[in-house]
Amino acid sequence: MELSERLKKIPPYLFVELDKLKQEKIQEGVEVIDLGIGDPDLPTPLEIVEVAKKALEKPSHHRYPSNAGSLFYRKACANYIKKRFGITLDPETEVLALIGSKEGIAHFPIAFVNPEDIVLCPDPAYPVYHLGTLLTDGIPYYLPLTWEREFLPDLGSIPSNILQKTKILWLNYPNNPTTSSASKEFFKEVIKLAKKYNFIVAHDAAYVEIYFETPPPSILEIDEAKERAIEFHSLSKTFCMTGWRIGFAIGNSFLISALAKVKNNVDSGVFTALQEAGAFALENLESLTPSIRMTFKKRRDFLTEELKKLGFKFKIPSATFYLWVKTPENYSSQEFCKKLLNETGIVVTPGVGFGKYGEGYFRIALTVEEEKLKKALQRISTLKL
Ligand SMILES: Cc1ncc(COP(=O)(O)O)c(C=O)c1O
Repeated sequence: MELSERLKKIPPYLFVELDKLKQEKIQEGVEVIDLGIGDPDLPTPLEIVEVAKKALEKPSHHRYPSNAGSLFYRKACANYIKKRFGITLDPETEVLALIGSKEGIAHFPIAFVNPEDIVLCPDPAYPVYHLGTLLTDGIPYYLPLTWEREFLPDLGSIPSNILQKTKILWLNYPNNPTTSSASKEFFKEVIKLAKKYNFIVAHDAAYVEIYFETPPPSILEIDEAKERAIEFHSLSKTFCMTGWRIGFAIGNSFLISALAKVKNNVDSGVFTALQEAGAFALENLESLTPSIRMTFKKRRDFLTEELKKLGFKFKIPSATFYLWVKTPENYSSQEFCKKLLNETGIVVTPGVGFGKYGEGYFRIALTVEEEKLKKALQRISTLKL
């Protein structure tokens, strides 16, 4: 049996060696502290769990869900977007329920990308943008996100022959892994370019509610964005619901209907009981999220202050629950992460795992409690570089 050419294009998993080393350390009895995982340690707020429990008991929810999402859920999504960003959406045509935003992001290229079409993908990035592209035989064209440019792509550097063949531009702000945010002015430039070259803008807003200062914008706040943009939202990080698998897409009705057509043929929607819990969460965002944000902010403040004292270089994140830190000189990101695990039992993610331009960095996830962070810092301070 032979894998398809398409699947063969998916690069091998980079962290095999690091995972093996982690298992070895655990076997040796080392208390490994894992700062590698982008999965909040905080439980889902109890109020959401209670709504889900009651919803589970409703026999009507035990049947197939509505593919695009129940109207009550899509209305809750539209109301949240209106309240938070001031954008008016038609819940029937401009909102689509997703089984987590990853599902929508991975399926979206199927609707628009033909073999050899160009898809602009940031680098470093959440890998699904370029992997979804490879699975549709599209060609990723990588846009470096660099320290010097505040981890925003240099739109002016993309050659016009590439822009002419571009079908989709992927963006993600607040950004994983670099933690940077984008302004409305940047989004305006993006939409202007997309209009000129007639391509789609797909914005991943998974971390839009994990912020510590000013609330980050939606790309759909920009005039004319609704003509060519789709935005992916997730309840995973906002409400610590990664295991529940629920999100939604908003934007141009043609783009939404095309993604819905793909999904109609591959899945059967989000469990309706979860949609009820999700709608409740979105309707109560203002009371449910401040304590989650506060917890990550406290961790960020503590860790940034202490890491600075140790001489590590990074930009202080105004959003997301990560730190994107430069590796000490003379170490590749993989070498440094291996050394850190070997000598201190701490797992962080090598930047190169997010793309070529992630080399020279490592990512710390603020997804463990403060006591563990303190312990981790104490161990890092013993590291001989
Ligand atoms: C940038 C980014 N987008 C999307 C996702 C997927 O989130 P979910 O599928 O849980 O909504 C993640 C998860 O880590 C992410 O980091």
